[in-house]
Amino acid sequence: MAISPKVFEERSANPRKLAFQTRRNRPLLRTHTCGELRKEQLGQTVTLSGWVHTHRDQGGLIFFNLRDRYGMTQVAIGPEQGETVAEVARDLHQEYVVSVTGEVAPRPEAMVNRKMDTGEIELRPTSITLLNKSLPPPVIPAAVELPSEETRLKYRYLDLRRPEMKDTLLRRHRMVKGMRDYFDEQEFVEVETPILGRSTPEGARDYLVPSRIANGSFYALPQSPQIYKQILMIAGYDRYIQVARCFRDEDLRADRQPEFTQLDMEMSFVEMDDILGVVDGLVAHIAGLLLNLEVQLPLPRMTYDEAMERFGHDAPDLRYGMELVDVTDLAGESGFRVFENAAGSGGRVRGINAPGAAKGYSRKRIDELTEFVQGNSPAKGVVWFKVEEGGKLASPTAKNFSDQILEQIGQRLDAKPGDLLLFIADDFDVTCKALHLLRKRFGEELKLYDPQTMHFSWVVEFPMFEWDAEEDRWAAKHHPFTAPRPEDIEKLESDPGACRAIAYDLVINGSEAAGGTIRIHDAGVQQQVFKLLGIQPDQAQERFGFLLDALSYGAPPHGGIALGIDRWVMTFAGRDSIRDCIAFPKTQKATDLMTGAPGEVDDRQLSELGIELHKRPDE
Ligand code: AMO
Repeated sequence: MAISPKVFEERSANPRKLAFQTRRNRPLLRTHTCGELRKEQLGQTVTLSGWVHTHRDQGGLIFFNLRDRYGMTQVAIGPEQGETVAEVARDLHQEYVVSVTGEVAPRPEAMVNRKMDTGEIELRPTSITLLNKSLPPPVIPAAVELPSEETRLKYRYLDLRRPEMKDTLLRRHRMVKGMRDYFDEQEFVEVETPILGRSTPEGARDYLVPSRIANGSFYALPQSPQIYKQILMIAGYDRYIQVARCFRDEDLRADRQPEFTQLDMEMSFVEMDDILGVVDGLVAHIAGLLLNLEVQLPLPRMTYDEAMERFGHDAPDLRYGMELVDVTDLAGESGFRVFENAAGSGGRVRGINAPGAAKGYSRKRIDELTEFVQGNSPAKGVVWFKVEEGGKLASPTAKNFSDQILEQIGQRLDAKPGDLLLFIADDFDVTCKALHLLRKRFGEELKLYDPQTMHFSWVVEFPMFEWDAEEDRWAAKHHPFTAPRPEDIEKLESDPGACRAIAYDLVINGSEAAGGTIRIHDAGVQQQVFKLLGIQPDQAQERFGFLLDALSYGAPPHGGIALGIDRWVMTFAGRDSIRDCIAFPKTQKATDLMTGAPGEVDDRQLSELGIELHKRPDE
């Protein structure tokens, strides 16, 4: 299901009127916003205040665009405005702050700018007041070329003045408000949970805060409000939401921040379908509100196993096909050792067909692709064939195969002349990782989808556990409070790897946009799962005793989900970087370039906390 958004109508096209306070004996600093004036106000005397966006001095005529949060208005100064006004106007520079009083006048027909909301009028000033000057800005809001991201983050207040950043932040505001309204309509209550708390096991490292009063003890910032929201269910608040800040000290990627925001929700007396239904409705509501897009419900669902089999990933981008094709049965008899070995040792041989890619992908380019796969997955290599006219598969490895096997492989992948076929022979997991990388890369490079389209879907029935080879134990795939499917409870001890969880992820355009589960509401099962995860009963009591206690006082069946708001904004605003969707983000090294956080603290603070620093040798 791919849907094209209709044109997004900016609210500025239909501006709301701000009520400006009137003051006794003093002129208003503004009567209108810079995005508001139209032909209807022609002839009126108004006052606008804002920043000088662009400035043109053409000798007899001076023009500048005045900008505020709401838009931009052209100010035009000609001989009839007088020398006093012209003098002030001449000395203005980009980002100076001014207040302009004047008459709303029609622009000459040839000067009408249809791309600007206020493009039919201009302001002819009777006075201009300089409210503040600006140094030459290192980030120029009017410039098309952007400086480096470091400069943008250091001077974030200038970067946030850029209309593109403003649009994204406003869209974020509208999205969060839309979410709150949607949930409020359905009797959800927003409850705030603590930031200073105990460790919440979401799989990342905690950010710790030392306690001055309880010397030697630490709070952990929440990786999510997971345990609190479950406690709220036990407390009877059967529909909860929170716009919650979460903190995770993990390796950062393009779609991850150390400090990010979730729309966290939890419901009691529900099963998976109830929660998916509520989120389906939310998706339709937000898509309609922000993109004017009609989403067909229910959103499609796929099991985790199916996603891994067809796409090699648990958050597949379904805006295009290019499914993984299994040829393990043909590989076993192929005569090609790499294929035969994988097939003979319980592994898999799978491939994808990059349609029409044979010509554009030279030997050199395919070598680069191979290096990319080897560098980013455990795969040892990529076997490839170009499909020649007549359908024959050609490549340096083709000589190892009989014509008949090649023909069958070609048929299996629906090969057409001009296609490029690529195969990975390895363990199932490795074939998933490597082919997902290739599929993603070809999807982008061959432009197999329209970036304007949106695709929403569910992946359900995740495994309960995954094997952590480093720690030599099972780890929770989602988190330790996730309920197994009832039919798998008996396998918890005998075959943990085969247990499936009542867990679900929402995928938007190949990005994990939300994740949730039905929870364990039975203290005994919870203890059993802790044990399986290597958390001994005394440790469980020490870390989660309060939850185990609470579960013993009439816990209702419950479940929930959390949406990654920053990722939603990224997708809905069509941005590539999560940092562009957050007002004050951190760099890939988790630093704030504007404030310099994290910073050193003075010795007195450390001694009050009873902390002595031993810097790591590598620093
Ligand atoms: P999970 O860990 O899957 O679930 O997080 C939910 C959603 O939050 C987003 N997300 C992030 N966004 C930006 N930066 C990050 N570092 C980051 N980490 C996660 C993703 C993800 O889908 N307590 C559970 C939810 C539940 O079970 O109800 C939880 O936090 O979009």
